[in-house]
Amino acid sequence: MWGSSRRRASVADVPAPAVAAEATSAPAVAAEGAGAPIVRTVALTKTYGSAESEVRALDAVDLSVAPGEFVAVMGPSGCGKSTLLNMVGGLDTPTSGEVFVDGAELTTLPDDRLTELRRRRIGFVFQFFNLIPVLDAVENAALPLTLDGDAGAEDAAVEWLTRVGLADRLHNRPDQLSGGQQQRVAVARALSTDPALVLADEPTGNLDSRSATEIAELLRQVAAAWHRSVLMVTHDPRIASYAQRLVLMQDGHIVDDLPLDGSREAPLRAMERAGLL
Ligand SMILES: Nc1ncnc2c1ncn2[C@@H]1O[C@H](COP(=O)(O)OP(=O)(O)OP(=O)(O)O)[C@@H](O)[C@H]1O
Ligand SMILES: [Mg+2]
Repeated sequence: MWGSSRRRASVADVPAPAVAAEATSAPAVAAEGAGAPIVRTVALTKTYGSAESEVRALDAVDLSVAPGEFVAVMGPSGCGKSTLLNMVGGLDTPTSGEVFVDGAELTTLPDDRLTELRRRRIGFVFQFFNLIPVLDAVENAALPLTLDGDAGAEDAAVEWLTRVGLADRLHNRPDQLSGGQQQRVAVARALSTDPALVLADEPTGNLDSRSATEIAELLRQVAAAWHRSVLMVTHDPRIASYAQRLVLMQDGHIVDDLPLDGSREAPLRAMERAGLL
């Protein structure tokens, strides 16, 4: 069953109007207390290679994401978007700088605490879904909890699959589901551990336009109705427009960071202004 320490989201939860306002003025330095950012990077830098072959994938990036905020990250191929997500997700280690997730500084956490934080506080959604072909939707969505020996794994999976609109597909395997449905299973899997943060790297990159829109709408709901922070990388300005805030990157830097108002054209205009088209 759901642990008592886990916050149980309700589909009836009303999006807090304060979230959008807070999002646009997210502090660069964490304040203590309830409004503290879920993600905060400080001078986050990642270089690959050495000497003249050195690639500075991230160069002193400062980024904060508030609780329940939906942030889209865009920028040209190779500008460091995936590197940023990998650092925030604790999948790779920075060259220098700090990454705080849910109050913990990742680079100083012992391995076992980092693994636990990654498993329990961060959900990952990938471009190619990364579902296990021989497992059905429930087993796939339950997997992170099953691996953790959680007796309530399948209950949580059924609950989240129902919330993402797959109540009638619980026992289908991935090859019996459309791409959009497979990505919904992946979103349910990401949410099954009740994370504070969902990281999504091009979650619509392998979907047709209609399924892509549905997944963008679902991620919007993950933040607005279920109060998880969502950090999403996308190449599609229309998909970015579902977020509350847009971060534009170029050559390892954040070159713009602006609030969005739901207008489908706003991300495109911002990219034009930043000279990224
Ligand atoms: N493991 C690695 N070893 C060497 N260089 C790397 C490695 N991973 C990434 N890079 C380099 O770091 C830079 C940023 O890569 P990253 O994958 O973060 O870009 P991206 O913005 O996600 O691009 P895309 O939109 O194509 O996915 C690129 O120049 C890339 O070649
Ligand atoms: Mg990438």
